[in-house]
Amino acid sequence: EKGGHRHFMAKEIAEQPSVIGDTIRHYAGTREIVLPEPGLDFSQYDRVLLVACGTANYACFVAKYWFERIAGLPAEVDIASEFRYREPPIPARTLAIFVSQSGETADTLAALRYCEGRVDRIASVVNVAESSIARGSDIVLPIFAGAEIGVASTKAFTCQLTVLHMLALKAGSDRGVLSGTEMETRLGLLSSLPGLVNHAVGESAEVERIAREVAEVEDALFLGRGAMYPLALEGALKLKEISYIHAEGYASGELKHGPIALIDQTVPVVVLAPSDELFDKSVSNMQEVMARGGRILLITDPAGARKAGDGCWRVLTLPEIAADLAPILYAIPVQLLAYHAAVAKGTDVDQPRNLAKSVTVE
Ligand code: M6R
Repeated sequence: EKGGHRHFMAKEIAEQPSVIGDTIRHYAGTREIVLPEPGLDFSQYDRVLLVACGTANYACFVAKYWFERIAGLPAEVDIASEFRYREPPIPARTLAIFVSQSGETADTLAALRYCEGRVDRIASVVNVAESSIARGSDIVLPIFAGAEIGVASTKAFTCQLTVLHMLALKAGSDRGVLSGTEMETRLGLLSSLPGLVNHAVGESAEVERIAREVAEVEDALFLGRGAMYPLALEGALKLKEISYIHAEGYASGELKHGPIALIDQTVPVVVLAPSDELFDKSVSNMQEVMARGGRILLITDPAGARKAGDGCWRVLTLPEIAADLAPILYAIPVQLLAYHAAVAKGTDVDQPRNLAKSVTVE
């Protein structure tokens, strides 16, 4: 049942090239994104509201960057447990999107109920198409990840991201922000994603070597800018969830507003930084860490490794990828790092202490 893997989590990490490919095939044509009935027309909304818990919430957070940048559509992200009790006012022409692997998370479902009659449309991005959250939605957008057994969400996260990315493309096109040619180019780039993810999955042994060293530490920091910031949060969550190493994710620019006080040689700092337009800013942050004796694990692309690899404790190099797709690719080493650190520590990878796969109580 684990397909020759030691843990479900390893199997689910390895499945990502194939399930991401399935997800893309379900929504992407050569020229356009096709949604299941009854469809969505983003020209009808002035704002997207994304609500979820845990890893699904970080997928929403990445999507905020995409909706804003690709479609010029204001997007707000909320944690379901905060949203539901805050009971916020909701402006007209709002599309609410609920993201949940299980489709049964109590807080996310309660947030959805709060939105009934208050938003123009309720969409859900779920892995379980017969779930309560799916049943409560006007439109259901399945992620096609297949059953996810490991408590730590891996393939569901990247498939959620893939669906949300395609929604942002559709939004760009519906709102006249993305031309037909740009759409075709972006769909072409998307079709190369499974191959790139496959490459990243294939680097598992190298991540394992680094993870054995990370397994020795008590605390770790994850830093990222732009859409890599939510990935930093996800990296920290994944590591603490299964290896019980205390980890925090920060926006790189926040480093000097507090967390830099933690830096010394005992705290590895994982920097997620493809060589995009924000790269030089990330390099400055890395220099601040190194100047204080901090150890950097840089996760970047070949150009980034050439520019900034010197002085880093370790460098993991991923293939070059279009900036907007980087969050999906960079999820892989982050998952592998947590997985191998947990295996090195001998924790229960698939069933970490105190956690449930589906959180159906508040
Ligand atoms: O089923 P859901 O996607 O609604 O679950 C949300 C969170 O409970 C979930 O993502 C959790 O954070 C994972 N265990 C993280 O790996």
